[in-house]
Amino acid sequence: MGRRSARSISERLEGEPEVGETYTVTRVERGQAQNSIATVIATKVVSAAELRSHRLEKEKLGTNAAGDEQVNEEESQTLYYIHFENMDRRLDEWVERSRFQGYGSVDLAAPVSENRPSKMTRSQRRIDEEFNHLSSGIQHLGATSAKLEKEFEERTKVRNVESIVLGKWEINPWYWSPYPAPFDTASRLFICEFCLSYFKDLNDYAKHTKFACTSKTPPGKEIYKKGNLRLYEVFGSAQKLYAQSLCLMSKLFLDHKTLYYDVGTFIFYVLCEADADGSHIVGNFSKETNTGNNLACIMVLPPYQRKGYGKLLIQISYELSSREGWIGTPEKPLSDLGKVSYRSYWWWVLLETLERLDSPQTIRMSIVEDEAGIHTDDIFATLHPVNMTKSWKGEQVVKAGVRVLEHCRSLGLCRPPSLLLDRKCLHWTPSQIRGPPRKSHKRLV
Ligand code: ACO
Ligand code: ZN
Repeated sequence: MGRRSARSISERLEGEPEVGETYTVTRVERGQAQNSIATVIATKVVSAAELRSHRLEKEKLGTNAAGDEQVNEEESQTLYYIHFENMDRRLDEWVERSRFQGYGSVDLAAPVSENRPSKMTRSQRRIDEEFNHLSSGIQHLGATSAKLEKEFEERTKVRNVESIVLGKWEINPWYWSPYPAPFDTASRLFICEFCLSYFKDLNDYAKHTKFACTSKTPPGKEIYKKGNLRLYEVFGSAQKLYAQSLCLMSKLFLDHKTLYYDVGTFIFYVLCEADADGSHIVGNFSKETNTGNNLACIMVLPPYQRKGYGKLLIQISYELSSREGWIGTPEKPLSDLGKVSYRSYWWWVLLETLERLDSPQTIRMSIVEDEAGIHTDDIFATLHPVNMTKSWKGEQVVKAGVRVLEHCRSLGLCRPPSLLLDRKCLHWTPSQIRGPPRKSHKRLV
């Protein structure tokens, strides 16, 4: 926090906001304005025309605020890139001076809680805390990795691509991505939705899609087909350019370090919606060969989010490792949205498995791992916050009495995915077997 952070919110801001300082800033979400604490990360001077397009963009996103339009439209002015305290970096934004209400306030610096229910039971609160767990930052890292992490954070602070055009969508990226120059500072990047080649110039993009590009699907083998959904398996070693472009695009929506260029040991599973024009990319997950992780990174493009595609990809990642004969786990750390999606998947599988096992009181963790096909660490991470694990005679056990399970159900923790994986439609046999086929969730068809 900046040195002015101890001043009161009522103290009006004089002069220009400064980089590194903390202020009270109006944040607008779906037309609703509220004051939040934010730090200025960067500034830029924009022309009147750029300012107009900035305002249009805000209007489109519904994040414009009363007061934005009060400044003289003829003059160039400064925009401020701000990060809201205790909020994910995807909410960072460029704002005008009129958004700054005052200096930062110590009272408002406490973790954000305004969106949480005020009355919660103890277990609800634990789950809530767990689900809303904010990254503990870099404090837990050793000195060298902390330094590297800090350098990375510094370099990636400001989003470098303002928008991407991908097929019928125009999407605002959430984070910085290492597109090579001159694409790394594009106000708008045009991406071919089939081969993922990228262009800064609209004419080059139009020429590519009309005349040059022959792809209508991702380059790999189709391994899943149900309704209009298709899944393609793409080997990074065989499709290096496509895999690199996929990583660069995925990074626009992933905050942590991912691979970009060294894709040789990774396999990518690309989910598409198909129609007469071809297979339109919806999202993907990557998997590194010969690790204990059955998923490295998962990403669903924002226009397709919250429709069940994320949990469908998670089910597929488990099904693949179960056919290979091992119990996998996603690479950590999980992002906030990754955590919400995995927790929802794990709760669904665990509760249904525990109900099926019908144990009077407790079950050994290793049995639950075997029956649910979920790694012990992930079972622990899901059940421990609600006090459903304990150590018994030197071994971890899960408390699974009827009343405990009923209580979990009553909290709404067991939500089946809206898109269930149809195993019959997954035409995939492992090239490498690690053990006998493992159980995966019984409810899958
Ligand atoms: N706010 C609150 N809950 C959300 C949100 C959100 N913005 N988005 C998804 N959820 C919840 C859903 O309600 C659902 O829970 P429920 O079934 O219990 O109601 C659950 O998360 C999964 O929803 P899906 O529709 O299946 O998932 P989606 O298609 O939205 O994809 C994903 C989830 C892949 C995490 C997506 O949000 C994304 O791409 N985020 C950006 C990239 C990212 O953070 N990836 C994970 C990184 S960690 C890793 O890769 C190992
Ligand atoms: Zn193309």
